[in-house]
Amino acid sequence: MNKAEAKKRIEKLKQAINKYSYEYHVLDKLSIPESVWDSLKKELADLERQFPDLITPDSPTQRVSGQPLDKFVKVQHKTPMLSLNDAFGKDDVKDWMERVERLAKQKLSYFCEPKMDGLAISIIYKNGLFYQAATRGNGQIGEDVTLNVKTIESVPLRLYDIGIDYPEEVEVRGEVYMTKQAFAELNKKQRKKGEPEFANPRNAAAGSIRQLDPRLAAERNLSFMAYDLVTDLGQTTHQQVHQFLNKMGFRAGDYLQLCSDLDEIMSFFAKLEKLRGKLPYWIDGVVITVNDLAVFKSLGVAGKAPRGALALKFPAEQAATRVKDVIIQVGRTGVLTPVAVLEPVQLAGTVVSRASLHNFDEIKRLGLKIGDTVIVQKAGDIIPDIVKVLPELRTGEEKEVRVPRRCPICRSPVVRPKGEVNYYCSNKNCFAIQREHIYHFVSKPAFNIEGLGPKIVDQLLDEGLIKDASQIFDLTEGDLLPLERFADKSAANLIQSIQKSKRLPLSRFLYALGIRHVGEQTAVALARHFGSLDKIMSASIDQFKQVPDVGEVVAESIYNYFHDPKNIKFIKSLLDKGVVIESEKTSKNLPWQGKTFVFTGALSHLTRSEAQQKVRELGGSIANSVSKKTDFVVVGDNPGSKYEKAKKLGIKIISENDFLQMLNQVDLPK
Ligand code: IVH
Repeated sequence: MNKAEAKKRIEKLKQAINKYSYEYHVLDKLSIPESVWDSLKKELADLERQFPDLITPDSPTQRVSGQPLDKFVKVQHKTPMLSLNDAFGKDDVKDWMERVERLAKQKLSYFCEPKMDGLAISIIYKNGLFYQAATRGNGQIGEDVTLNVKTIESVPLRLYDIGIDYPEEVEVRGEVYMTKQAFAELNKKQRKKGEPEFANPRNAAAGSIRQLDPRLAAERNLSFMAYDLVTDLGQTTHQQVHQFLNKMGFRAGDYLQLCSDLDEIMSFFAKLEKLRGKLPYWIDGVVITVNDLAVFKSLGVAGKAPRGALALKFPAEQAATRVKDVIIQVGRTGVLTPVAVLEPVQLAGTVVSRASLHNFDEIKRLGLKIGDTVIVQKAGDIIPDIVKVLPELRTGEEKEVRVPRRCPICRSPVVRPKGEVNYYCSNKNCFAIQREHIYHFVSKPAFNIEGLGPKIVDQLLDEGLIKDASQIFDLTEGDLLPLERFADKSAANLIQSIQKSKRLPLSRFLYALGIRHVGEQTAVALARHFGSLDKIMSASIDQFKQVPDVGEVVAESIYNYFHDPKNIKFIKSLLDKGVVIESEKTSKNLPWQGKTFVFTGALSHLTRSEAQQKVRELGGSIANSVSKKTDFVVVGDNPGSKYEKAKKLGIKIISENDFLQMLNQVDLPK
């Protein structure tokens, strides 16, 4: 290829690469595979290597160039870079709106946008080309970070054509930030190198932008979100500022809304607060700006902040609390994960009682002991982490956290495979057993916790929010909110049904324990026979054998269950957490006492289990097959062979309606 051809090709390549860069960084929608984009970049770099004098400063290959600096040069801002006044709730916003509308002598509209958690940068374009970038500094004088900002792919090196002649200088401002992913990768690298991790993404972004070597800054994978166009290009509202910026090639806010009153602003705020955990970057509030730029300007500046804008912040995401205990959660793969049980604390507007500890090395790294006061942090909407121990608050009574020798669930030995940070339970079925136990515990015939199905149980286990069924009663709304599928209302509803489930008859309580060989029927028989949990817990094998249908094997199983210290502890913790066992009606004169029912076919008004429950409540019992001892066979649609057998034996056959009528007619003893 000769030079003239190369020049043409280079121009085309630059245009195409920049177009894909815009799609990728601004529109979030790349129209070609990333590998194709990469090969175009490579072709461009190869051509430029061949014809170095065709390299222009706006070429995508020039994002990292130049030598490391030995210090930053100061830059004077032509227009001061201000900060924002903070607001912490609806009342603050209301006061501010009243004040600005009074000063402006008119009703105003407000432009709302996310407040990015990063650092402010000003970028100057000269004749449409990226020229200089500076930090805010003290607002008047900042530091020249041109080379580092140039490495940020979401910063266009040439402003896009928007159909106007750009003035010689255009100034754009916005936030340099780090995505959650880039932040996690950076900290992973730090850990690998044995260097300290960054406490938060803002520090990480700020540290990266102040790297003297632009190659290091480039590795940090920074992003840029534009929010202000300082130069007058004919825009009259802040909304237009965002539209212009977007067309000029910047990412300029993914969630923006023009609001006309306080309620609209607050619901936008609530929407973003909900969304923030799912966003790929961190936001710490909403910036509210008077939309009309002429009014904004006339409102002027008070101190260091413009009167016409306000930062409405989300509630604090860090708080101090005490670690009451460290429990061990057993994951699907048998991995043992320590989880801190916290003194419940308000965090980001909710109460939380658990924090993840990840693994035992993390406990060592933090130097955490049980009883310690710690700083907990919610980064976005995830389960909180412990950031730091406050050793100055120790009393001397704190206890070391020990790696268990045996699995807390099944007592099998714990193993740590070579080269792994994690410990595992050596029993492969352990997690499955525990999970089944909890599904059973919350099911309808047991604690009947409405809205707590297997999927949510799985989530609670996976997140380490519960380790056994009793810990369901410790959950708070704040624990649930971060989980998928939960919103304020559903979290509140589940907590309410958990609370409601705490009161239940003895038979259902016994069934819920999941004792081997104790199904619903046996649980009812036990409850009727003994009348109270205490009597059951202290009964002998022979006494169990006196219960109808309980033979040697079942009696032993029940006896063994109530003599296992682990089970005794579990029952005690249920009672401690407020479970109330209602005494069973042991009275011999329940109306259906001694009557045996068999169900066959599909019922239409009740489920089979509801119908059977009713029978038991009234003193009757359920059998699975028809025999001479059967008193009633309830027949639904498409009955099976039991129906034929009943006819043959001459047992009383009743329809579902007959059954419902019988239910209506019984006199319940008071
Ligand atoms: S407007 C007059 N909009 O918040 C100042 N600032 O607390 C103009 N920030 O220094 C700022 N996202 O670093 C504005 N959408 C946004 C923002 C935003 C983050 C930062 C910015 C500013 C600080 C003030």
